[in-house]
Parts: sequence; C-alpha cells; structure tokens
Amino acid sequence: MKIYSPAEIRDRILRFPKKELIQLPTPFTKMANLSGELGGPEIYIKRDDLTGLAFGGNKSRKLEYIIQDALAKKADTIVTWASLQSNWCMQTAAAARKFGLKPILVLFKSYDLPPGFDGNLLLDFILEADIRIKEAEKGKTVSAEYAERMIQEVVNEVKKSGHTPYVAPLGGSIPGGDMELPLGAIGYVNACAEMFEQAARLGIVVDAIIHSSGSGGTQAGLACGAKALKKDCRVIGISVSDEKEAFGADVLAIAQQTEKALGLDLDMRKEDILVFDEYIQDGYGIVNKDVAKALRLVFMTEGIVLDPVYTGKAMVGLIDLIRKGYFTKKNTVVFFHTGGTPALFPNRDKLVEFLR
Ligand SMILES: Cc1ncc(COP(=O)(O)O)c(C=O)c1O
Repeated sequence: MKIYSPAEIRDRILRFPKKELIQLPTPFTKMANLSGELGGPEIYIKRDDLTGLAFGGNKSRKLEYIIQDALAKKADTIVTWASLQSNWCMQTAAAARKFGLKPILVLFKSYDLPPGFDGNLLLDFILEADIRIKEAEKGKTVSAEYAERMIQEVVNEVKKSGHTPYVAPLGGSIPGGDMELPLGAIGYVNACAEMFEQAARLGIVVDAIIHSSGSGGTQAGLACGAKALKKDCRVIGISVSDEKEAFGADVLAIAQQTEKALGLDLDMRKEDILVFDEYIQDGYGIVNKDVAKALRLVFMTEGIVLDPVYTGKAMVGLIDLIRKGYFTKKNTVVFFHTGGTPALFPNRDKLVEFLR
C-alpha cells in the first residue's frame, strides 16, 4: 500500500480521455456558521453542485468520461435509466445533447409525486429527451435485472431503427452496459485529489469526507482517492436507498476495479468502505421531517441549497453523527455537495408540510 501525491494521481487519471463539460475546480470553503451551530468538528464543503452543467452535481464529473467513451464507440444515442426525478438521467441528457447524442431515459416511478413536468422531469422534457416512464415499487430502487430487461427492449428498438446506442449504467457507477471501466469512480478519484490540493493550500488536514451514496461510484472514487492520498481519512457514505452490507460490497467492487484501472497499489478492503444506512428512514426519495429541517438549517446558516433526496439525507447523517460524538472538535470534516437541487420543487408539498 502506497501514499501518492495529488500530481501522481492526476497523472494516472490523465491517461483516461474525457470531454470537457464542466468547470473545475469546484469551490471548497468553510461552513463557519454551520460548524458553530452544530458545535462539533470544523465543516468544509466541496461544491460539486457548482460544476456548471445544468444544475450541477456529481454526475457531471462522471459524464466527462462517459460521453467520451460513448463517442469513441461511435454511438449516436445514449440510453440510461433511474428513478423518475433522477439527477443522473437529467445530467446525462444535458451532456448527451451538448455532444450531439440523442438521450433516451427509462424512468421508474418509485415514489408518488404530483403529476406533470417538474424538477428534473421538466428539464428532461426541455432537452427533448425521449422519456419512457415505468411504474416501480414505492420507496425502493428497481432491481438491476428488471431495469436491464426494459433497457434491452429500448436497445433492440434503437438498433432496428439503424442507430447505435450506448447504454450507460445506473449513476455511471458499476461497470456494465457499454461502460466497461469504472469511469464514474475515476472522475471521483480526481475530485478527491482536487479537494486535497485545495485543502493543502488552505493548510487544512482533512480527517473525514461525508457524502450521499446511491449507486456507489462517488463513494468508490472518493474512498480510493482518500486512501491513495492520505493516511487515515475516513470516507463516509450516507446511503439513500440500499442496506449497508449489500451496498458496501458493491462499492468495494467498484473501488477495487478503480484501483486496478488506475494501476494503484491501495489494497482496497471492506473496512475502507463506511456506509451508514440508518438515514434512509422511510425509503428512497421519501422526504421526512429531519431532511426538511436539515435543508432549512444549511440554507439559513450558509445560504447553500441542499436537495431532499440525496444531500439532505447526507446532512441529516452528518448532524446526527456530530450529535453522537462520532467526530472530535479537532476533526475537520468535508461535506461533498453532490447536487440534486432540481428535486426540491416536485417535493414542495412535503417540505412545506414539515416546515410550516
Ligand atoms: C444529488 C446526488 N447526490 C449523490 C448521489 C449518489 O451518487 P452515486 O450514485 O455515485 O452513489 C446521486 C446519485 O444519483 C445524486 O443524484
């Protein structure tokens, strides 16, 4: 196991071609008011909600590599899937359009939202994405097998019409479809190196990174990056949908593939993947009072907008872990803001109910 410099990591990442979609580095700043309010560790924020593609978010870092891959494979259509209000799908559609690819989105309706075009679905519509809505079990993400069957039907149809599809896996995380390498996670190793460089410039030693974890690529990339760049920096994934055992194994598998793809000597293991699943509460995408209150707290103290499905739940996790004494006052914790703010609006009823 070896510790690398950010320059060494960057060198390895440069071997992977990408299309420029976003503005990097994203800002890295202290959340002085929130840190004071919570009375625990120093909290910094990495603003990946400000990547500059559509409304920003973690998916745009991943898509720089994935769009490049799709174009290299001569695709003219990109096919992907996720939940109805998916940030991933909207960002994929935006990136695809920018590079002349047609986006086809299979969207699973796994929680009740007011009908009509709102949030990400409105953005998908404006982008003229080919939207296919399917019913799914409430509060759950659909099984990969079911989604793959639906995707296969779309792929057959696209091929029959003489076009070339590129199937991008859920969240750009677990290699699959036409993405053979963990390209999304590689984007997040880069994000980690970028953040450590910013921290070093400010003279900060980062003890922990905390973020929202859904399909695993962000966590896998951050976990590899943190282990490569520093001894003892915990990466804590707050799961929004899956239980920690099974999900942790998925994240580890992506992390090990990332380590291999980058040729790093990290020996990624189970203990490097910290997943907390207690903040899923009522299920994926279901807003609760804690999330609504966390959103209000961060907006009122820092002027920063979180989303109710991902970053809001991660913030609930951070607040709770601070209250439980998981961090010391001397620790420095970085909250990765992974975007997702368009999902605020379709969730307005629940937010108003809990905050009124
Ligand atoms: C806003 C936001 N944050 C975090 C995540 C989780 O990232 P990952 O899927 O890489 O685990 C997602 C995934 O959809 C997201 O949209």
